[in-house]
Amino acid sequence: MSHYLKYADSLEVTQMDEDAVSHQIAESMARVGHAVFSRHCHATRNAHARSHGILKGELAIEGLLPAHLAQGLFSKPGRYPVVIRLSSSPGEIGPDSQPAARGFAIKILGVAGNKVLPDDSGHTQDFLLVNSPSIAFGDVRSYQRMQDFLERVEHDPDGMAGAAAKLKRSPDPKLETMLAEVLRANSNHILGETFYSMAAVRFGEYVAKISAAPASDEVRALTGAPVDTRHRPSAFRDIVVDFFRQYGAVYSLRAQLCTDLARMPIENAAVVWDESVSAHQIIARITIPRQEAYSPARQAYGDEVLSFNPWHAIEAHRPLGSIMRIRRKVYEQSSRYRHAVNGEPRREPEDISELPD
Ligand code: HEM
Repeated sequence: MSHYLKYADSLEVTQMDEDAVSHQIAESMARVGHAVFSRHCHATRNAHARSHGILKGELAIEGLLPAHLAQGLFSKPGRYPVVIRLSSSPGEIGPDSQPAARGFAIKILGVAGNKVLPDDSGHTQDFLLVNSPSIAFGDVRSYQRMQDFLERVEHDPDGMAGAAAKLKRSPDPKLETMLAEVLRANSNHILGETFYSMAAVRFGEYVAKISAAPASDEVRALTGAPVDTRHRPSAFRDIVVDFFRQYGAVYSLRAQLCTDLARMPIENAAVVWDESVSAHQIIARITIPRQEAYSPARQAYGDEVLSFNPWHAIEAHRPLGSIMRIRRKVYEQSSRYRHAVNGEPRREPEDISELPD
């Protein structure tokens, strides 16, 4: 067990100019968010605007885990209600044929423990996961290049195609590599994907990346199954709704513990932590029963009322590293703005009965 890196506050190292760069990213995201609002007269999330299903389930820690995994929320057996929002990454709702990363945001209810944010009175722990083990722009400086590009797309009369053509005239190889990675996103069945936190969190006495992998036969059978999105703008919503009318699903929640800061950096989330050095170890099981996954009331609640945020966390699962620190600012900003202009309450659920059927 001694080979797992021990958590210490000193593991995080603020980058040069990080505050100034973070401020510029937040300002740019706000400008793009306002532009999206003025096009639709309705504000959406600055990222992952389109949802594909809002699910009710249960997270179970079924027995006492080995000491290195019995950390934080997972330190003793327990059962917690969860809400999961499935999504695609763009900050504006478009057709499912757009290349995009898929999101699997988990909100665990009824969690005790000191919260990271001083003004967070909720009893929730969120884990936000995406179907890739790393994020191409893994620190604030890299992210700024991507955000600058997204803002250029916003102002280019030819949108993404125009901004990409201009990029060819004044090449930025690093940005092109990052964009190519984003555009390579698959169009496979969302329920068969494995989802990752990409960046690290504190894991009690240790440091980990969190992931969720399909565990029951019906979702495992969907891994790698392509979805035809060409003539169906809401193809992912349709397949999620159809699936949960027939079956339930089980996912394994896993922790990959950091063993070595040089090979498993915290400050650069673009680096995939090598599974052969540290395996993804199961810490809990998420069971999602058959249900109506996207009724109008549920969709409105999931999209308009709820906010998923990696900083909705207990101290034992504090988000770590540069890309997590910028998220502290922008999730709050995005959520505050969209709730205010849409006239929606901003409230953490205290009980699962608040999620409409
Ligand atoms: C470690 C990498 C990241 C992961 C795994 C991740 C994942 C997600 C997911 C799954 C959602 C949807 C949450 C929901 O369903 O409500 C989301 C939303 C969002 N993400 Fe990220 N994200 C990451 C990095 C970033 C970065 C670097 C930024 C910006 C600097 C960002 C900005 C946002 C914003 C603004 C929202 C919407 C917040 C709201 O209005 O409630 N994310 N993210």
